[in-house]
Amino acid sequence: MHVLKMRDVALAGKRVFIRVDFNVPQDDAGNITDDTRIRASAPAIEYALKAGAAVMVTSHLDRPKEGEFDPRLSLAPMAKCLADMLGRPVPVIANWADGSFDSSALQVGSVVMLENCRFNKGEKKNDDDLSRRMASLCDVYVNDAFGTAHRAEATTCGMARYAPVACAGPLLAAEIEALTKSLSSPARPLLAIVAGSKVSTKLSILEALAEKVDQLVVGGGIANTFLLASGARIGKSLAEPALVDAANRVISVIKAKGGNVPLPIDVITAKEFSASARAETKLIGDVAEDDLILDIGPQSSAVLAAILKRAGTIVWNGPVGVFEWDQFGHGTQVVSQAIADSEAFSMAGGGDTLAAIAKYGVTDRISYISTGGGAFLEFLEGKKLPAIEALEQRAAA
Ligand code: 3PG
Repeated sequence: MHVLKMRDVALAGKRVFIRVDFNVPQDDAGNITDDTRIRASAPAIEYALKAGAAVMVTSHLDRPKEGEFDPRLSLAPMAKCLADMLGRPVPVIANWADGSFDSSALQVGSVVMLENCRFNKGEKKNDDDLSRRMASLCDVYVNDAFGTAHRAEATTCGMARYAPVACAGPLLAAEIEALTKSLSSPARPLLAIVAGSKVSTKLSILEALAEKVDQLVVGGGIANTFLLASGARIGKSLAEPALVDAANRVISVIKAKGGNVPLPIDVITAKEFSASARAETKLIGDVAEDDLILDIGPQSSAVLAAILKRAGTIVWNGPVGVFEWDQFGHGTQVVSQAIADSEAFSMAGGGDTLAAIAKYGVTDRISYISTGGGAFLEFLEGKKLPAIEALEQRAAA
């Protein structure tokens, strides 16, 4: 993957437009509850300012109706957070893509936040006219929004085509490098943990990873479907019986290469899905008709910890139990700790995974934490991400 990098571009005196992903969680009062993505792109902004550029920053926030301003989806809180990080004001510019905003008036060394780019009609369709108008605001377009790299939109793709110079910011470049490293020539064994409620939503990633990994650890509802495929009884646990054949195919592909899909030998069950449910530890053969499997058991956690210790590369997406409730969090805690203790190159991504990593205090001991959710999964799957492809095309032209 060859893309031009921001650090290889002269920025002094230039109008630099940086597309970031500040789509961060907020509470009901609009307070930012996790600023990871803002911290992750602050270096790109600081770098451009230090290099003597006039900087414009934009992001999407959620999925507003295009053409309508919705104050709840304004980037004002993100601008405030960024201003605190940078120690300088970050004013918000509302209508910046309708031709009324004059970017040539921006002062070198200043930064503005261009309001939620998805308020503009045509953003999500990657409209050509809108892309050209937006691109005309800058001398250099920088994409630092890995979290949105799987979307072909005006600020992620069209602008890369029409801006005088288009390059990748440090975050995007680091994400590409870390993900490529973990998949193209990984230290073996390569182990992936993929968990989530449904096989159907992650089938294509399971199939793609089956071709690449030596071991595939499945968790959550996905593991229940794999357990069903192995002939185990799972009571009334969440599963997709229609996908048992698909699960068996994934297992066969890995086995044919000498790898395996280790399944839980014991589990933590409950009779109801609730925060106050009583947890019971059971061998998999003892799961009753009315049981719900909500975590892996201690024997399974110990087996996984040993496997993780021997891994050369670990890719992690999804907690192995309902870790938000402590009585079902032990499996995810052991996995988090084992990944942190492992000497393997470890890479994690996805909202739930990052929440688990934060809960168990191992953030600093994971080799690389991706800011991507959907983008992280699509990259792992081997899909071309449109925003990266747009930069590659510019670099090749
Ligand atoms: C994300 O949070 O995964 C990204 O910001 C992309 O958001 P989207 O799914 O609304 O495009």
